[in-house]
Amino acid sequence: MRFSGQFADSLLTEQLDRVSLSFLVEDLQIRRGGIAPNICFGLAALGLDPLLVGSVGEDFGDYRAWLERHGVQTWAVRVSETQHTARFICTTDAVNAQIGSFYTGAMAEARQIELQPIAERAGGVDLVVISPNDPEAMLRHTEECRSRRFNFVADPSQQMAWLDGAQIKRLIDGATYLFSNDYEDGLITQKTGWSHEEILKRVAVRVITRGAKGSSVEVAGEPRLDIPIAREVARVDPTGVGDAYRAGFLAGLAWQVPLDRCAQVGSLLASYAIEVVGTQEYRFGDTFLTRFEEAYGTAAAAEIAPHLCRLRL
Ligand SMILES: Nc1ncnc2c1ncn2[C@@H]1O[C@H](COP(=O)(O)OP(=O)(O)OP(=O)(O)O)[C@@H](O)[C@H]1O
Ligand SMILES: [Mg+2]
Repeated sequence: MRFSGQFADSLLTEQLDRVSLSFLVEDLQIRRGGIAPNICFGLAALGLDPLLVGSVGEDFGDYRAWLERHGVQTWAVRVSETQHTARFICTTDAVNAQIGSFYTGAMAEARQIELQPIAERAGGVDLVVISPNDPEAMLRHTEECRSRRFNFVADPSQQMAWLDGAQIKRLIDGATYLFSNDYEDGLITQKTGWSHEEILKRVAVRVITRGAKGSSVEVAGEPRLDIPIAREVARVDPTGVGDAYRAGFLAGLAWQVPLDRCAQVGSLLASYAIEVVGTQEYRFGDTFLTRFEEAYGTAAAAEIAPHLCRLRL
């Protein structure tokens, strides 16, 4: 919501203990989001068949229909009988001060989800991506992946702020891929006490995104790959760039193209995401291959071209 005045004009410091305020807002926008739905949306847009796992409330119906319509399988989503779907509600004032609340709701029940029955019903899974969720659920999913030998991606991103070193170690040890941005990279090292080299020994592939500076991919004993951004046409809304990058990278893995190609697909998808308001509003039309070629050259484009016949958007 957008409030055309300033919160500060209504907050009287000598009466903060008796705050009871209501702001008359002029604009209400409801946006889709959530890291897993954003990543699944991107994968489906690129023609894959992602399976969303998580916990929601009975209010999920419209969102489920939208995701299904865009190619995301949602049958594995657990519906809580008592709680609503998680959401973030935020009001911004005329000077961009914000008052927001995050309601976790049904998300807390994600810890009750077991992956094995889902994998069985799906006829096996290629890769389990463990992104920010109820922290206990993240830990349980990771342990289950390790014990059942499912390949998994550790993507703790913003939950890193809440997790201690021991928990972060449990989330990343043995991951096939570890994703973070450069700020979170610093947090991992600081909180776990593991050096960069030590982390590289514990995960097969380390992907670090660096905002407008691009991203890097590292494998122990091999030279680091640095991937520049695919320049965006307009910078409209950076929300969801990290999720779009992951979706593109994971699509590249599914296509079995080399790691630098995966990072390039991720970077281009991130550019599409930055050009529109909202995290699931981008459309490719017939621009994807052309833009990929402009950013990364003809030879790279030729490697991904055969996989683009299933694009959904
Ligand atoms: N301004 C930009 N222009 C083009 N591409 C960008 C820009 N910012 C980010 N990207 C692309 O998106 C990727 C992910 O961005 P970033 O490192 O900012 O993720 P993040 O901090 O996790 O973002 P989020 O806010 O979604 O969590 C970058 O590696 C880059 O490829
Ligand atoms: Mg992020």
